[in-house]
Amino acid sequence: MSSLQGSGGDGVASAGTVVITGATKGIGLALARLFVRRSHSVVVIARDQQRLDAVAEGLRALARHGCIVVPLALDVTHDDATVRIDETLAQHGLALDILINNAGMGLGGPLVEQSPADLERLIALNITALTRLTHHAVKVMRPRGKGHVINIASLGGYVPGPNQAAYYASKSYVISLSEAVDWELSGSGVRVSVVVPGPVRTDFHADMKAETAFYRRFLPAMEPEAIARSIYRGYSFGQGVIVPGFSARFLSVALRILPHPLTVPLTGWLLRQRP
Ligand SMILES: NC(=O)c1ccc[n+]([C@@H]2O[C@H](COP(=O)([O-])OP(=O)(O)OC[C@H]3O[C@@H](n4cnc5c(N)ncnc54)[C@H](OP(=O)(O)O)[C@@H]3O)[C@@H](O)[C@H]2O)c1
Repeated sequence: MSSLQGSGGDGVASAGTVVITGATKGIGLALARLFVRRSHSVVVIARDQQRLDAVAEGLRALARHGCIVVPLALDVTHDDATVRIDETLAQHGLALDILINNAGMGLGGPLVEQSPADLERLIALNITALTRLTHHAVKVMRPRGKGHVINIASLGGYVPGPNQAAYYASKSYVISLSEAVDWELSGSGVRVSVVVPGPVRTDFHADMKAETAFYRRFLPAMEPEAIARSIYRGYSFGQGVIVPGFSARFLSVALRILPHPLTVPLTGWLLRQRP
């Protein structure tokens, strides 16, 4: 067995180890289930230990022979996040084959109404932690000549988003970083893909108090399982930019070719909270 493959301890090779941040709910959980079903060992990361343990137990029931499921209770914004991930992988004889930077947060409402602490939390999670983890992963992967980082951005990364300004700006950063680093790594065997989903049916919108915004009524939301399947397909084909679903693909083109004087007010209206 190659050292890049995970071992479940019974001698059967897994399809490689995937580390997924924010894997206890929504898109991250759907990804964890899919990767486990496709014979990967999975390290699932989130902060809430109790939910993490319950999720890990459910995933173990799906795991193929030779694959293991490892829960890691971790706030990925903490300085020691990469060390904790490395230690966990080493303890279980696993290698970092695929990293999915999925954990993210949003903030609904005008920037002027946000607290400085919330804005800093968003930047720490959506930008700083994602950058640190991406940097660490590609440093580990490049000497081996293989590996894949998958960063979850958003359609919002293609347009300024009044009423979710910091969130949209953070996802713009994720798209830009991922495409640039993927290019830098050309020919190295390491890929950095970025996922650009439209709205997805998860707790995310309610958590950022955007459930009453117009976009929730006018834009169709995809199921997290459909997003996960699209990501897995994109990963398998080595796609750099993965846009799940027809309407997101259409909007991703429209948002890039239409002028901002048109798209910014429209986006601001869609993101405005209804009274
Ligand atoms: N939902 C959408 O419509 C949508 C659309 C486009 C893009 N996205 C992006 O997709 C990603 C996942 O979204 P989702 O809707 O699936 O989110 P979600 O349902 O709210 O789940 C978020 C997950 O991240 C974990 N998490 C949050 N903060 C963390 C931290 N500091 N450290 C480690 N784990 C953390 C949460 O668990 P704990 O709270 O226990 O840590 C949870 O498992 C995000 O990056 C989001 O921006 C979502």
